[in-house]
Amino acid sequence: MLRQPIITVLGHVDHGKTTLLDKIRSTAIAAKEAGGITQAIGTTEIPSKALEELCGPLLEKFKFNLEVPGLLFIDTPGHEAFTTLRKRGGSIADIAILVVDIVEGMMPQTLESLEILKTTKTPFVVAVNKIDKVHGWKSNDSFLENVKEQSELTMESFDKYFYNVVAQFSNQGFSADRFDRISDFRQTLAMVPVSCKSGEGVKELLTILIGLSQQFLKNKLVKTENSAGIILEVKEYTGLGITLDSVIYDGSVSRNDFLVIGGKNPKVTKIRALLQPDPLKDMRTEKKFHNVDSVVAAAGVKIAAPNLEDVVAGSAIMTAKTKERAELLANEMKKEVEETEIHAQKDGLILKADTLGSLEALIYIFKNYPIRLASIGTINKEDVISAEANSDSMNNIVIGFNVSTAGEAEKLAKDKNITVLNSNIIYKLIEDYEKWTAKKKEDIVKQELENVTKPGKLRILPGHVFRASNPAIVGCEILGGFVKPGYKLFKESSDIGEVKQIQSQGENVTEAKIGDKVAVSITGPTVGRQIKEGDILFTGLSGEDYKKLKKFFHLLTEHEKQVLEEITELKRKHDPRWGL
Ligand code: GTP
Ligand code: MG
Repeated sequence: MLRQPIITVLGHVDHGKTTLLDKIRSTAIAAKEAGGITQAIGTTEIPSKALEELCGPLLEKFKFNLEVPGLLFIDTPGHEAFTTLRKRGGSIADIAILVVDIVEGMMPQTLESLEILKTTKTPFVVAVNKIDKVHGWKSNDSFLENVKEQSELTMESFDKYFYNVVAQFSNQGFSADRFDRISDFRQTLAMVPVSCKSGEGVKELLTILIGLSQQFLKNKLVKTENSAGIILEVKEYTGLGITLDSVIYDGSVSRNDFLVIGGKNPKVTKIRALLQPDPLKDMRTEKKFHNVDSVVAAAGVKIAAPNLEDVVAGSAIMTAKTKERAELLANEMKKEVEETEIHAQKDGLILKADTLGSLEALIYIFKNYPIRLASIGTINKEDVISAEANSDSMNNIVIGFNVSTAGEAEKLAKDKNITVLNSNIIYKLIEDYEKWTAKKKEDIVKQELENVTKPGKLRILPGHVFRASNPAIVGCEILGGFVKPGYKLFKESSDIGEVKQIQSQGENVTEAKIGDKVAVSITGPTVGRQIKEGDILFTGLSGEDYKKLKKFFHLLTEHEKQVLEEITELKRKHDPRWGL
């Protein structure tokens, strides 16, 4: 038998995710005469009877038989919920709705959502929302009926916006089209125009979801013996203590079953009560709960059980009829964690997350970087020590997703100059990490270049010898690069001394650069012997300086590069292996 597909909503901020979920809920409530709607815990179910009433004619039109017993929507929109609500190797959502504002089109979080959908291989439809914003649009509840009633000018404007969004998806590698113009939903991504404000197109959207789940997910939706779910929220509830608002995606769960909660140290407890809200009469009534003996996937349910302290949302749950089987499952779940965690004796990042699902997501996001440690739990002292043990300072960082940092770890990180990045938004972590990397690289370059002698070329101006020796003081023009006090100077094959001071218009300066005319005092040479008017001098780089400069060659100006080449040529005349 097929179970209901689990559906989530994704999309860019303000494109209408919450409004869509509200609309789906109220649409279903309106059809409550035909089977009603069960708004359970963190989920909304629309049973097949209600779907039939809402979508009957449309299902016929598209030749979809209604085989699923309903649709189950997860009420928390947003891709953060989506990235953390993971079962092993994918999402618990069977299908997703990607909401896009018809006028704004694709935005950064639309792209991020697409990335998530690709990596979790989740089929999806696009709800092209806010069609009521198209100039002159007259809304009605059925898009297919309503589209015939618009003026030519309005349709022109609609098509311009709509096909702009279609084109944006095709740029991302999807062949997409308006849902009613698609012959094979396996080949073409369905785009459904909707107005979540007026409700227009919502029926069409539900119809396409039914069709897709039946075409794509037939095998996946079959009910199985195993029972599995995920915790959406951990909540204190009067009279029951801590409860777990969960969605069960596989099998069935009964009162008195043993409950296994995944994590680093899986927990075994016993279900004391299963609760579901009383049927919803209108959106505003406060939720009251009643006991149920069991629930069958897919379903949202509130679970009460002893020993639920320190359980975190996003954790996987399983149930068993016997203690032995529960222990076995706990062991398997522990193994799963161990298989996912990374403990490598190599340089790399330190990643921490609160659950197995979020750790998997975090490891995936950082897949292009070396990882030294990836594990579940609060950021602690050991993590900071691991980060410090990296020989490359580019890995002196701990990255936490949905976790807190222990006070002593924070202090240690400060002392050891280890960066701790922490966020509940996974994409912010990678963004912040990339910013940190860029800044760190810049700092390292600056630091390394600080002590390097830069390439410089200068000419002693004829008629500008102010003092012959001890030190020699001569007027010079800088022909290229830099000259600074402390730099050694050389001429053709021989070292001639060291720059003591540089003066410009009677004032000491810390450097002279290309184009400057300055007085330079040089300890070592005597004018007329080692140096003379008109001589060309160069800064005396060491072979080590040369190597560093080569490493950061791209940071040098064209003039500096040219001077460096001249210096290299001169040096290698005498020592062919100079700087190599
Ligand atoms: P976040 O949760 O902040 O990411 O936003 P969201 O995607 O949940 O968007 P939400 O549903 O809060 O809608 C954002 C704004 O768009 C609200 O002011 C809605 O009233 C408006 N809105 C949503 N759907 C429609 C629509 O179909 N037409 C029009 N005109 N406005 C809409
Ligand atoms: Mg919202």
